[in-house]
Amino acid sequence: MSEQRWRDVDDYIERQLIGSDPVLDAALEASAHAGLPAIALTPAQAKLLHLIARVHGARSVLELGTLGGYSTIWLARALPPDGSVTTLELNPDYARVAAANVELAGLAGLINIKVGPALDSLLALRGEGAGPFDLIFIDADKQGTPEYFEHALELSRPGTVIVTDNVVRDGALADADSEDPRVLGMRRFHELLAAERRVSSTTIQTVGAKGYDGFTLALVER
Ligand code: DHB
Ligand code: MG
Repeated sequence: MSEQRWRDVDDYIERQLIGSDPVLDAALEASAHAGLPAIALTPAQAKLLHLIARVHGARSVLELGTLGGYSTIWLARALPPDGSVTTLELNPDYARVAAANVELAGLAGLINIKVGPALDSLLALRGEGAGPFDLIFIDADKQGTPEYFEHALELSRPGTVIVTDNVVRDGALADADSEDPRVLGMRRFHELLAAERRVSSTTIQTVGAKGYDGFTLALVER
């Protein structure tokens, strides 16, 4: 099974079920033009996240890792008019691109981009008494994921859904000998989940236009 086949199937899914959207296409084009890495969610993944938000009836979302705002726009479009997305981005250049994309999408009123290290922003949010968020999407630097998850839990309530991207990493998640800090981050994240009685979770392996990876869905228990 070739990676080309995975891309072909993602193309098919996009044509059949997602279609093109001028705002999202423009966001990806502006991101590429500004030199952002091409690591945004695929359309199929982004629509899954959007649908999770809708199924959940989410009104407040916290995202870690804005990049160019592609997933941010998909998330904001899942919310009622008085909903909100708080999204954290380390890189001020990326945040500027995201802010322009969000503005063009007509969603600036729903989306608050916080620039700086995610840990600083998370501590600030906790200090302000922000949250609890209905949905949290963790998609920032991979080695930071365990700590981000712990803060996310503190910004949660029973019923909060926490989705984490890039957890399988070409299967390296199962490699106990890996020394890759990103893999170690995701293994540590799974150890936290395993020991955490406040959440019920599973991880799904995925293939597609971005290769072989996966995501974790965790539900904060009532
Ligand atoms: C990378 C980050 C991501 O969030 C992703 O989905 C794919 C790749 C990266 O940093 O390489
Ligand atoms: Mg990702």
